[in-house]
Amino acid sequence: MTQRESFLNEEHTELLAEISEMSATPGETGKLFTELLNIFSAHLDREEETVLPLLGYLRDSVESLVEVSDSLFKAGKDFRTEYETMENEHNAMDNIMKTIEPNDASGKVMELIRHIRHHVMLESEIIYPATMTAANIVISRTGAKGKWRSGTEL
Ligand SMILES: [Fe+2]
Ligand SMILES: [Fe+2]
Repeated sequence: MTQRESFLNEEHTELLAEISEMSATPGETGKLFTELLNIFSAHLDREEETVLPLLGYLRDSVESLVEVSDSLFKAGKDFRTEYETMENEHNAMDNIMKTIEPNDASGKVMELIRHIRHHVMLESEIIYPATMTAANIVISRTGAKGKWRSGTEL
């Protein structure tokens, strides 16, 4: 994994640890964070398999012609197919957090909710649109030469 691809993994690892810890809390808060954890753990695997290689391609194409490998093409197809589900999972996580908030406003809980919301907003507003752009380029570039450089016509 290159350094620039690791930022999302690092954030996922950190959030996974924080959510897991909170899910072990006794009572309703722990139960709700367990529900959130179930969604988040499968969700991040999908993101790491699609978002990371596609954003890597976008970044590499700024500097040179980049070829579309079979696995990258598959990541592009998978992201387009799973985008809606992944956004629905973001919403499902937010709904769980909205249930937690009125019942448990302790500092630790609020801080974790803020962290998760920031992560999700960054993905929905910036990372997913960039990934979708990369997916569209990757799919349109497959066949012919299969290479693309940023600034050249598709
Ligand atoms: Fe994520
Ligand atoms: Fe996400």
